[in-house]
Amino acid sequence: MEQSQDNPFTFTVDVSEAKLDKYDHHITRSLSEMSGQYADQPAYDSALAREDVLLYEVYETSRPENSGELLNGISVLHPGKVGDEYFMTKGHFHAVLETAEVYYCLKGEGMMVMETPEGDWAVEALRPGKVLYVPPRWAHRSVNTGADEDLVTFFVYPGHAGHDYGTIEVQGFRKLVVEENGRPKIVDNPRWRSPQNGR
Ligand code: F6R
Ligand code: ZN
Repeated sequence: MEQSQDNPFTFTVDVSEAKLDKYDHHITRSLSEMSGQYADQPAYDSALAREDVLLYEVYETSRPENSGELLNGISVLHPGKVGDEYFMTKGHFHAVLETAEVYYCLKGEGMMVMETPEGDWAVEALRPGKVLYVPPRWAHRSVNTGADEDLVTFFVYPGHAGHDYGTIEVQGFRKLVVEENGRPKIVDNPRWRSPQNGR
């Protein structure tokens, strides 16, 4: 039987423009898709009434979604805040929980907020040149703590990982990143719902 075979390929990341010279998907997420995730609901409502602002963009290369493949691309998270809380991604567990992800920060400054189904949490700073290994089981959300620069990261994860957004939509992340006296601060999420019995 003949095996189908791909050829090796390359693409180039233009870091200052936060663009790939080749990609298959350009995914955008705006404020209206973050309902219930920002702690300050009145600030969220009034920001959304002003404009459904674009929060982040993902450029991805398309690959088959199986375990031998590595999905990869860049995530471009724009700067800004809702109330005191910095712009952030929706965040997710991988649908196949036992799958990891690697992030390599290319530009900007930010944090990755992470937690397990049991409620353990971790926050790591992202700076250009820094590699973050997100182990299997850890939900992850990036946060742009920069005043006026995009947070740009390159990511790689297994093709079969999939995404579970629903759990975070319901329970939120345990920790939030807010600005206090001009500096990022990690605080408890008053609306976090503890997972009942793990998963
Ligand atoms: C893929 C991954 C990243 C994010 C991207 C946008 O597993 O973690 O590519 O998908 O940073 O964030 P979400 O997917 O949470 O909207
Ligand atoms: Zn992921």
